[in-house]
Amino acid sequence: MPHGNLRLEGLKKFYGSTRALDGFSLHVQAGELVVLLGPSGCGKSTALRSVAGLERLDGGHVFVGDHDITQQPTAKRNMGIVFQHYSLFPHLTAAENIEFGLKIRKVSGAKRRRRSNELLELVGLGELGDRFAHQLSGGQQQRVALARALAIEPTVLLLDEPLSALDAKVRVNLREEIRRVQKEVGIATIFVTHDQEEALAIADRIGVMHQGVLEQLGSPTEIYAAPSTEFVAEFVGKVNRISGTATQEDMVMTREFGSFSIGDSVAVGSKVSVLVRPEQLGVRAIANGSCRLVEMSFLGSSFAAHIRGSGGSKLIVAVSPDESIAFSIGESVEVFQRGPTLLTIADIDEPEIAIPAELAKLD
Ligand SMILES: Nc1ncnc2c1ncn2[C@@H]1O[C@H](COP(=O)(O)OP(=O)(O)O)[C@@H](O)[C@H]1O
Ligand SMILES: [Mg+2]
Repeated sequence: MPHGNLRLEGLKKFYGSTRALDGFSLHVQAGELVVLLGPSGCGKSTALRSVAGLERLDGGHVFVGDHDITQQPTAKRNMGIVFQHYSLFPHLTAAENIEFGLKIRKVSGAKRRRRSNELLELVGLGELGDRFAHQLSGGQQQRVALARALAIEPTVLLLDEPLSALDAKVRVNLREEIRRVQKEVGIATIFVTHDQEEALAIADRIGVMHQGVLEQLGSPTEIYAAPSTEFVAEFVGKVNRISGTATQEDMVMTREFGSFSIGDSVAVGSKVSVLVRPEQLGVRAIANGSCRLVEMSFLGSSFAAHIRGSGGSKLIVAVSPDESIAFSIGESVEVFQRGPTLLTIADIDEPEIAIPAELAKLD
């Protein structure tokens, strides 16, 4: 089996009227970790299972290197798989679990032992090879599952929400470990999650999935700072949505929060919604402003200032700990723009209105 890159071309999988995969394509380079990110039910597991040969596709092709493996049975594909739920064999020790695939492949006992010792070291469980699953924590069990998946020297590593059942702290710890191990082994990997923070933290590239298709593929920074669709903007990170009217091609006047200079260009007079991240906004106290600071919530390294406009619309503005001290709840404030907006979307349900000439001249 060639080591190398993985290509999914136009995968289709239907369950009755459900289109779990609806022309899904993705390329993963050798050594690369691609995170498939999307809400529950968008087709992530189906995509992963298709790569592993656990689903019969209704269309499309799976390639490893130049080989079309679409019709190959799972056993021949040599894929390493880790699922969300601990799937260790309970009657085998950690080492025996790791050696399982090698035993099936008739690798000698001495060689198996050497390999399982190496892998126990690799996943940070050097001393725990003799333990049974019930004697290991959830995080340790997933380390064993990872070692077991890697034992057969798979062509591709497939991880389906491997951290979802773990506590927050273990989750963060183990995702860093998975990343380290994946880099060390240098294996093409698909890591499925619905957790955007997890995706941003470990991916080389993130593929955002929506209703059985890949909505956007890019580096974590691209996905975060330059989402190509509204779905991606709202699924990854926090985003404000403010409606207004374009007074210039690149300027939108909002009813409650002032004017925004937008990155894209729209028809003057069109009704639009502007999407902007909290950290691209600022807030300052102002006498008799039309907005109020209604809440300041602590996020660990920054604060989220919750602002309410005169019409009741809400905005979140990121505020540094230093800045936060100056504010008091209930005070009158104004919002200003610090950085670029993400996207401008036409508000199709409202008719376009003509801008009065005197308004159009305002900045
Ligand atoms: N065996 C199945 N039978 C019927 N529908 C299924 C089956 N597996 C998945 N689906 C449906 O296909 C869609 C995608 O599922 P899945 O790939 O598990 O999504 P995800 O992993 O992103 O949560 C969902 O609507 C799900 O209900
Ligand atoms: Mg799933």
